[in-house]
Amino acid sequence: MHPDAQIVTDVRHWTDRLFSFRVTRPKSLRFRSGEFVMLGLVGDNGRPLLRAYSIASPAWDEELEFYSIKVPDGPLTSRLQHIKVGDQVIVKPKPTGTLVLDALLPGKRCYLIATGTGIAPFASLLREPEMYERFDTVILTHTTRDVAELAYGADLIERVKNDPLVGEECEGKLLYYPTTTREESPKMGRITTLLQNGDVARDLGVPPLGPDDRVMICGSMALNLDIKAICEEAGLVEGSNSMPNTFVLEKAFVG
Ligand code: A2P
Repeated sequence: MHPDAQIVTDVRHWTDRLFSFRVTRPKSLRFRSGEFVMLGLVGDNGRPLLRAYSIASPAWDEELEFYSIKVPDGPLTSRLQHIKVGDQVIVKPKPTGTLVLDALLPGKRCYLIATGTGIAPFASLLREPEMYERFDTVILTHTTRDVAELAYGADLIERVKNDPLVGEECEGKLLYYPTTTREESPKMGRITTLLQNGDVARDLGVPPLGPDDRVMICGSMALNLDIKAICEEAGLVEGSNSMPNTFVLEKAFVG
């Protein structure tokens, strides 16, 4: 057994492109909700094949959850997608990342802007009680190509609402804004467009993005850069662990 091996306790396939899984938690692992770790399998050459994965469960959870794309010819995910309960997965107990509450200054509203598997770090943060202590309103936007790819987020919102720790705290504070770009759904469009044309503010009954807002961004490189520009236009400044400010971003890993 690899010294960093953990045991798979649950696997769920959401679409033919997406799955989530839970593993036992390394005894030595301490992390902040929103951080990522290196995760993988032992490769054919006997050496670990690792990729960065955001932890999708909160810091207080006794297990770790991850949400992953399945890349057919991806060296890791082509194999990882076949894991079953009882299998071993390597988790390096060295968490890091910028999508943490410590990197943001206090504010009124906090936007969590995700595309695709970029929702993973926010799945962790939405079950973190501090999220609702720090902000009056928490807005999760999740944009995917088609409706089926919204399922993990929709299920997450239900889990958050029924969570013994944050279920009550999030009441009246948590707003969910799912959109699709390539299949008909109640709200269609790229989140960049919907922020800029005023739809998000109108639909949610909040003021347009401004200095009172805080933003966390997690998607493709292009999405991150486009939302970063929108944040900067709204007067927000990128923060980090050492220099907290009004928005933070991180690339969604794997795929
Ligand atoms: P689109 O369908 O218009 O490309 P992916 O599955 O490729 O990771 O994309 C996830 C979602 O992110 C898709 O709905 C996609 O929209 C959207 N997206 C990708 N790049 C950007 C961007 N630069 N700005 C806004 N939305 C984006």
